[in-house]
Amino acid sequence: METLAILVAAGRGERMGASRPKAFLALGGKPILLWAAEAFASAPSVDALVAVVPAAELEDARELLGPLSKLRAVTRGGSRRQDSVLEGLKQAPDGFDGIVLVHDAARPLVEVGTIEAVVHAARETGAALPMLALADTVKRVRAGRVVETLDRTELAGAQTPQGFRFALLVRAYEAAFRDRVTLTDEGVALERLGHPVAAVAGTARNRKITTTEDLSWAEDLLLRERGRVAP
Ligand code: CTP
Ligand code: MG
Repeated sequence: METLAILVAAGRGERMGASRPKAFLALGGKPILLWAAEAFASAPSVDALVAVVPAAELEDARELLGPLSKLRAVTRGGSRRQDSVLEGLKQAPDGFDGIVLVHDAARPLVEVGTIEAVVHAARETGAALPMLALADTVKRVRAGRVVETLDRTELAGAQTPQGFRFALLVRAYEAAFRDRVTLTDEGVALERLGHPVAAVAGTARNRKITTTEDLSWAEDLLLRERGRVAP
């Protein structure tokens, strides 16, 4: 096995405010988690998939993802995102020395091109992630007052999948857990070690579904693409 993808779907989806965790909500008639899993299943360089889900969803997730031939395991997550990623890392085969991809299942519309670009860059440099330029002017605000305006040309939003040589991510994770650092993504664990992280082009389509507005945006996008409504 050369490339293992870990889909983290074990969050509670509190900002979505739905009765089920958001990875299990329907988008265009199928669960968000399945959209993400199918994207990775159809990426030529991905060999195996691991899904990390809430304990209460294990059975449903196994049934949902079972038909995917690249599925390696469905396992339960932890309380923080990084705890869920750690559970996913434990599902790698013994002696694995390939590339591991970590993806938010909450980004269901990730393109195969992005996955392939991340794998390619991670093979070259050891660590890579997709970045998307920011549209808004970005300012630092403290106690309700603008402190400064940041140079937007140097800023970008980090997306997933984030790809790493497996041993490198494990080392970075071990250091972060030892130092009790809260990780907002995998890249920050590498940055702490001073390891270079390559940036590849992110896309607007790979937006994270966080609120009901994001879900409506994704529904509208799919409807437009299916030609049911005029663009
Ligand atoms: N995630 C996870 N385990 C956690 C927390 C988050 O696997 N303990 C996953 C989510 O399922 C999601 C991704 O990490 O696919 C990004 O997290 P986020 O968008 O914050 O999702 P939730 O934590 O589910 O949402 P919220 O923060 O609104 O509760
Ligand atoms: Mg969260």
